[in-house]
Amino acid sequence: MEPAEPAIKRVYIQNFGCQMNEYDVERMVEVLRAKGFESAPSAEDADLIVLNSCSIREKSEHKVASAAGRYKELKERKPGLVLAVGGCVAQQEGDRLLRRLPLADFTFGPDHIPAIPTLLEKFRGERRRFAATDVIDVEDYRFLDADPRPGDVKVTALVTIQKGCDNHCAFCVVPATRGREVSRPAGEVIAEVERFVALGAREVTLIGQNVNSYHAIGTPDGDDFAELLARVCRVDGLERVRFTTSHPHDFTRKVAEAFRDLPKLCSYLHLPVQSGSSRTLKRMVRDYTREEYLAQIDYLRALVPDISLSTDIIVGYPGETDADFAETLSLLERVEYDFIYSFGYSPRPDTPALKLKLCDDVPESVKDERLQIVQELQRGITERRLGRFIGREVEVLVEGESRRNDGAQALCGRARGNEMVNFPLPAGRAPRDFIGRLLPVRVTAARSHTLVGEFAGAGATKRLPVLA
Ligand code: SAH
Ligand code: SF4
Ligand code: F3S
Repeated sequence: MEPAEPAIKRVYIQNFGCQMNEYDVERMVEVLRAKGFESAPSAEDADLIVLNSCSIREKSEHKVASAAGRYKELKERKPGLVLAVGGCVAQQEGDRLLRRLPLADFTFGPDHIPAIPTLLEKFRGERRRFAATDVIDVEDYRFLDADPRPGDVKVTALVTIQKGCDNHCAFCVVPATRGREVSRPAGEVIAEVERFVALGAREVTLIGQNVNSYHAIGTPDGDDFAELLARVCRVDGLERVRFTTSHPHDFTRKVAEAFRDLPKLCSYLHLPVQSGSSRTLKRMVRDYTREEYLAQIDYLRALVPDISLSTDIIVGYPGETDADFAETLSLLERVEYDFIYSFGYSPRPDTPALKLKLCDDVPESVKDERLQIVQELQRGITERRLGRFIGREVEVLVEGESRRNDGAQALCGRARGNEMVNFPLPAGRAPRDFIGRLLPVRVTAARSHTLVGEFAGAGATKRLPVLA
């Protein structure tokens, strides 16, 4: 008889990709913990390594392959070590990924997270590689509730409200990897927010690929997200609410008005525009024009003048001319976002762009050049936008400690507009006195992406608790 293999007990998870993937990793940890697993501090200490992959751009996909490759030597040294690959690449590629990643023992899609322990047993029992990537039907899909432990909950928590996406943005792989859109029942969302708050969270970010089409309350007409926001804001003990991501086509006036009407809803919106050219937007199948997008921004700013805004930009989309690109630049100047994420177009498998025969005709060198121009322009705008806070007092939710260059103890947290703020720890106090609290901080300087300030004293702004 062969000696029994040691029971697998420690898992090391490496994440790639978006907040959905981050949320999924937290659930993986919980699912595995319920079966006696602990988190390993490094891959070296692990019996199971999980790579949670992202497929949004080709570069993201390459990351998981190179990460897997780095475990070659470790796997040779530790024959019992199991390497599993989850996430969007695993879902999209199915068996093909097993062929491309010879080191992967099994792969699984996001719908299979609750089954990871069973998949692991199956692999260990059968010693045969497999891909678990069938998709659960919309009607049968059940969201996996978060089951956090007290010590694991941070000041800010992610709560999923939706899976999948029913849009058809021509460049985007998400509908192919995450499947049809399903809204999570509102009762489950509220209960999860309450669980996180009971364990110390003070801020939640509601996540979904297109949160504005959330329709699990009332009629499925896409206009119920504002109602969900109002319900979440009523959770006692919760101080702040954020959400991401909004597709402009589904962003309603009702949601814009929520920023004015719900004091807990932070004054920050990520509203991806992708391009400033209506011609390009049409070929991206984004279902809005430059003018319609700008009208939404104007409406929002009329309601909440100081709101902070961010966006996503794609440069070098098929057929993008210099004139189209100039329109993206002029949109950036017109809107003055606080922050942007910008990407060169990357053709992806199973996307509408391929079916529409939109060929990747902008040379990589032009994409790179356009990216640099966009980023350079935005650098100046971000600097100006952050500069508006200098001398002002902002409300900071303290998330943790940060180290200053001179080694002095400092705290960090975010202002309501999502700006990261660093400030020295007040003399004679410990970080734990402040973490999880809303503090008034006077901004003294702006760095390229963050603000620097100093504690402005107890009770200095109206929403702030008076410190003991
Ligand atoms: N659901 C979100 C976007 C998720 S993907 C929304 O609708 O806004 C995040 C960002 O990645 C997108 O906004 C887009 O800017 C970028 N992106 C997606 N596919 C891409 C591709 N094929 N090439 C380059 N960037 C891409
Ligand atoms: Fe992709 Fe568009 Fe869905 Fe966002 S809304 S996930 S960009 S298809
Ligand atoms: Fe990437 Fe999948 Fe998120 S493709 S961006 S991990 S939904």
